[in-house]
Amino acid sequence: MAELLTVDPTHPDRGAIDRAAACVRAGGLVAFPTETVYGLGAHALDATAVRRIFAAKRRPASDPLIVHVSHVADVAPLVRELPPVVTTLAARFWPGPLTLVLPRAAIVPLEVTAGGETVAVRVPAHPVARALLEAARVPIAAPSANLFSRPSPTQAAHVAHDLGDRVDVIVDGGPTTIGVESTVLDLTGTPPVVLRPGGVSLEALRELIPDVRLRHVEVDEQQAQASPGLLLRHYSPRTPLTLVEGQALAPRLAREAQAQLAAGARVVVLATAGVLAAVRQTVGDDGRVTWMSLGADDALDAVAAGLYARLREADAVGADQILAAQVPGDAGLAPAVRDRLHRAAAGRVLTAS
Ligand code: TXA
Ligand code: MG
Repeated sequence: MAELLTVDPTHPDRGAIDRAAACVRAGGLVAFPTETVYGLGAHALDATAVRRIFAAKRRPASDPLIVHVSHVADVAPLVRELPPVVTTLAARFWPGPLTLVLPRAAIVPLEVTAGGETVAVRVPAHPVARALLEAARVPIAAPSANLFSRPSPTQAAHVAHDLGDRVDVIVDGGPTTIGVESTVLDLTGTPPVVLRPGGVSLEALRELIPDVRLRHVEVDEQQAQASPGLLLRHYSPRTPLTLVEGQALAPRLAREAQAQLAAGARVVVLATAGVLAAVRQTVGDDGRVTWMSLGADDALDAVAAGLYARLREADAVGADQILAAQVPGDAGLAPAVRDRLHRAAAGRVLTAS
């Protein structure tokens, strides 16, 4: 089992951080909190260490990793070109939940970039991640610390559940605050393209890059080559999840729940509080339904923070079906939450008109 180091999230203990940093430098695997989700870190310039990440996660080698660094100045050695917009973006969003895709320098192993000529880089904001990067004094490649295609971990317990016997150290810095992954912005083409919506909102990016485009979220699997994190079956619980979206969402979800119950199934209904109450009123109480709230309808930040934990809890019920209600909106974290729910459904989407 992994060595568990519990640290204060804002003032992490020096000794624990040094221990984790030494493990990274020696080629080990260290799970650590970032402000988005927990990462599974390894020395980014050590190809053997990086290969261990893929093995531990059972992640296909075709899915590239994000390289985390302490400071924007540490990006220069990793890239062939540093477009001026990086300075502007860094000044506004780093440290923070923004990942930039840039041309790769030869020093970055092809294991990190999945054989590609671009590299994704990010300066995380979490004090534990920052302390670890500073103590390690090497860039740290880190995907989310979950088994491939499972919901990302937002607590150390999630990491231990998925990877406890496959990592050397888990640094427990409590639950992460944002709860969905970083925004991935590809700067290698014109105009820049958001490959994955995340912690930095589109409207905030647009203030600096007015023509930024969002890669359409409903991509199919063949189109997902540029960022395999866009694979449809991603972030999914094991229990089949059906997503209900559209205008008359609560009645449609209620009908689907009733149909499932009539067929003898046990279901989890996952929705924001108001929608959940409306569905529950229609369906009535039935021991075969587990009602699970994602949080207040208008508190998208809290919904995002709890999303992956709720998906894991919904899965743990062991029901036949999870029926989830899509959240509305296109501002702030809404595109990221919508994207993750959509992927969790892996194509099982009912549209209510
Ligand atoms: O918030 C986050 O980004 C978290 C924390 C740990 O930093 N990390 C994370 O990593 O979500 P991961 O590996 O689960 O997701 C990285 C995403 C994937 O969709 C991957 O395909 C994409 O970034 N990506 C990485 N390198 C890329 C590249 N060179 N070009 C295009 N997409 C890339
Ligand atoms: Mg991931």
